[in-house]
Amino acid sequence: MRKDINTMVCPVELAGSLDNPLRRLFQNPRKILHPYIRPGMTVLDLGCGPGFFSIEIARLLAGKGKLIAADLQQGMLDRVRKKIRGTELDRIIETHRCEADRIGVTEKVDFALAFYVVHEIPDHDALFRELETILKPEGRLLVIEPKFHVTGKAFDAMEARLAGAGFAVIDRPGLAMSRALLAGARE
Ligand SMILES: C[S@@+](CC[C@H](N)C(=O)[O-])C[C@H]1O[C@@H](n2cnc3c(N)ncnc32)[C@H](O)[C@@H]1O
Repeated sequence: MRKDINTMVCPVELAGSLDNPLRRLFQNPRKILHPYIRPGMTVLDLGCGPGFFSIEIARLLAGKGKLIAADLQQGMLDRVRKKIRGTELDRIIETHRCEADRIGVTEKVDFALAFYVVHEIPDHDALFRELETILKPEGRLLVIEPKFHVTGKAFDAMEARLAGAGFAVIDRPGLAMSRALLAGARE
């Protein structure tokens, strides 16, 4: 077990706390994501959990484009599917089951969100290399990590691994209780 990062995978039993309505008070999905999402985009929500961000991304796509909600655990994906069944978002959201060491999405995306998931994936080199192949050349990757699980030093190490995979940091958005960076392919 690493000391600077808690790599434990968040269990499906904790999905309810990820979806807690109070979370919106300090992590409002629309407020966080509206600067990056445009109708018509293809978007990846990596480690989507029960879909706290997926639903809002799909709404921001306004009926045009696609959101790939990807997670390691089928139980999380089932929660996303249950939320959207019979709604117009069902047409926009595709669920995808990842493997522990491979995202496995073959479609190219304009924007990828990795919210509180990178620290749960042990091999950051492999993760960022794969993300680099999934993002379109002008695509953007937003990595957000919890301060309570990821130290500043560990986040710096993630950033170095992102650079090693060909990414450059474009911005460092401020977000409560979190460390965040927006990255794109280095020119
Ligand atoms: C802390 S939860 C965050 C969920 C969501 N992003 C949110 O902020 O509400 C982390 C999620 O990442 C998923 N996860 C962990 N390892 C993964 C992997 N290798 N590939 C895809 N998803 C993974 C877990 O199953 C869990 O749903």
